[in-house]
Amino acid sequence: MSGCRVLDGGAQRDAARELAADVAAGLSSTPKSLPSKWLYDAEGSRLFRRITELAEYYPTRAEAEILRRHRDDILARVGGGPLDLVDLGAGDGRKTMLLLEWLRHEGRDFRYVPIDISEAAVRGLVGAASDRLPGLQVEGLVSQYAAGIDWLRKERGARRRLALFLGSSIGNLTRPQAETFLRGLSRALAEGDHVLIGFDLKKDIGRLVRAYDDRHGVTAQFNLNLLARINRELGGRFDLTRFRHYATWDVARGAVESWLVSTEAQAVPVEALGRAFAFEAWEGIHTEYSHKYLESDVIALADASGFTVEAGFTDRRGWFLDSLWRVGPRSR
Ligand code: AVJ
Repeated sequence: MSGCRVLDGGAQRDAARELAADVAAGLSSTPKSLPSKWLYDAEGSRLFRRITELAEYYPTRAEAEILRRHRDDILARVGGGPLDLVDLGAGDGRKTMLLLEWLRHEGRDFRYVPIDISEAAVRGLVGAASDRLPGLQVEGLVSQYAAGIDWLRKERGARRRLALFLGSSIGNLTRPQAETFLRGLSRALAEGDHVLIGFDLKKDIGRLVRAYDDRHGVTAQFNLNLLARINRELGGRFDLTRFRHYATWDVARGAVESWLVSTEAQAVPVEALGRAFAFEAWEGIHTEYSHKYLESDVIALADASGFTVEAGFTDRRGWFLDSLWRVGPRSR
């Protein structure tokens, strides 16, 4: 069984309208901002894959090291029996492949369910995973997190589940958003199910900022692609040479913030919205948070969202943490 389904068909079809609404609201607020989820169209997903190969961007390699070294331990703790491996925000799924290969090696009965907002990413991943592991049971779902969680809730209890939220995707959420998201996830799972979450840990600030401002400018292209996307999908007239990428560490928030800064005063028409947006010189658009965690933050977050920390796995340098949580007994 191998396939790919567009889950929240309605939401996907309405994506253009939702993007338009987010752009209208975000570029009218102070400071201007755009939700980071719109970074991942086909071009954005391609650029993100290039980011993961940059010398400065350590998280992907650190997490791959963790999974390679600890996959036997991680999967042993999840327990036996038929398993659904649900990969939230799977992207190109390259790290998950390390787990799939191990499950295959161990002769386990399992199914792979990658979920991603980018249809191109899901299609590519389903194809690549089936090529790599012939006969793999895989069902790709194109959807945002919310619809992915609905799907989990509906199928609850049928099989043991390990939900993966790797790569520090959680870093895009503010602390309150992360807690709400994870509480929803714990409720959609059954008692005894597990989640494996990738947290990028706090470390030297220079290293953090360089990871989001690489010397080849790939991260800048990734961020600027958000404006290019508005041009493509909403008839925007952003001139990308009049904006620059800027990444900075916010100590109070514990996050790298990514911005696009207008280098001059300008008005940018967006055809689909029937209006233009005025920028003053050096005015910024906030585009992304990448929150970094302390181990104490991770434990507090698990407690607050209905999970029990089962084990933690770090790379040799202690830069990244894959934390394995179990769904605790339900109080309600
Ligand atoms: C995919 C959200 C984990 O925040 O580190 C990388 C995205 N943005 N470089 C991150 C990203 C700029 C990435 N996540």
